[in-house]
Amino acid sequence: MATTQGPTDHESAPGASTVRARTHRVAVVGGDGIGPEVVAEALKVVAAAGVELATTTYDLGADRYLRTGDVLPDGVLTELREHDAILLGAVGPPLGDTAVPSGLLERGMLLRLRFELDLYVNLRPFRVVPGSIAAADRSRLGATGGAASSGPDLVVVRENTEGPYAGDGGFLRKGTPHEVATQGSLNTRMGVERCVRFAFELATRRTPGDQQLTLVHKTNVLEYAGDLWRRTVVEVAQDYPGIEWDYHHVDAACIHLVEHPGRYDVIVTDNLFGDVLTDLAGAVFGGIGFAASANLNPARTGPSLFEPVHGAAHDIAGQGIANPIGAIESAVLMLEHLGETSAAGRVAKAVQSYLDESASAGTPTIPSTTTAIGDAIAERL
Ligand code: NAD
Ligand code: IPM
Ligand code: MN
Repeated sequence: MATTQGPTDHESAPGASTVRARTHRVAVVGGDGIGPEVVAEALKVVAAAGVELATTTYDLGADRYLRTGDVLPDGVLTELREHDAILLGAVGPPLGDTAVPSGLLERGMLLRLRFELDLYVNLRPFRVVPGSIAAADRSRLGATGGAASSGPDLVVVRENTEGPYAGDGGFLRKGTPHEVATQGSLNTRMGVERCVRFAFELATRRTPGDQQLTLVHKTNVLEYAGDLWRRTVVEVAQDYPGIEWDYHHVDAACIHLVEHPGRYDVIVTDNLFGDVLTDLAGAVFGGIGFAASANLNPARTGPSLFEPVHGAAHDIAGQGIANPIGAIESAVLMLEHLGETSAAGRVAKAVQSYLDESASAGTPTIPSTTTAIGDAIAERL
């Protein structure tokens, strides 16, 4: 059920017949709802940036499940491992849908990929979009700190293979009045430490003044997992004496994110808190449609997966009004990961130029249809 397109090899430069650069093999999963619509724009923009991809398209998602019962066949997982990266739109049925059991696609495909490909960091960068809560916060304070930096204003490093997502739990006496349901949170020292180290390393690469690292957890209630996270940060911090760090409880972090998002530079947090905080951050920084993510296997023992933070958004699917910028920015993260640094930079600049022009016309995005936004960004390349 996969279709392949594009070259497998190409000459890296005219006349340089002995130097061959391998075309990147990218598996594309549009998925459900607006997923295919936004992924098409991301691919359009990558092509306009002059990067050749050998894409394999996989029709996974709710339709495929309803047609065949497949979620993520083992053979497909094996094929995905052979790619350099995976670009995904979104998977999941409409809320309230009963044809697809809740969580079946999410756990059976997306979470399975995160676990089996060991994508232990979910990197979610945010840039201030004009007109957003974060933009108002910045202008109120007179654009200090990160003003000169070219990197994202906030990066959330979300642990991506453990916590409540690990699936620990079960039912007892299901469906009876004495039913028991448990849902544990799995936290390993190794899993926490590799995520925390990634966050400290990332902080060191940011502009001085934008390097504050904040651990977000709920140590006042989750005393076991929270204690492990906090002790790990205390110990890892000793290897990074130049990085200041602090700690916020997740509930208070929600207040601060809305009232003064500029106070955060790098947040490191567990899987579930990271999920919730990044939808909130999406809204605060301009809208969930702008938010991008990279599910990274930093050891590069397999492909990493790139996807917008948002979901299938069935409420707006098929109307051509989904914002494709989160998917386009996810493709930028993919290009960076593939070593296409210059193309990544050019796409990021094209997006910024488009947003600046939209802002000067008094709107976050002009024109406002999915394909027109993709076209407007592609034309700048
Ligand atoms: P959602 O992110 O799909 O939608 C939440 C709200 O944001 C909706 O009002 C939607 O219209 C809006 N929105 C989302 N993306 C947008 C965009 N690009 N442009 C404009 N508006 C946008 O969250 P949901 O409704 O809770 O989830 C719908 C389905 O998607 C569920 O089945 C869920 O499990 C799944 N989901 C999948 C992923 C993923 O594949 N990575 C992520 C989140 C949710
Ligand atoms: C996300 C999504 C997923 C998550 C779901 C679809 C499993 O909400 O990528 O943020 O909870 O991680
Ligand atoms: Mn989410």
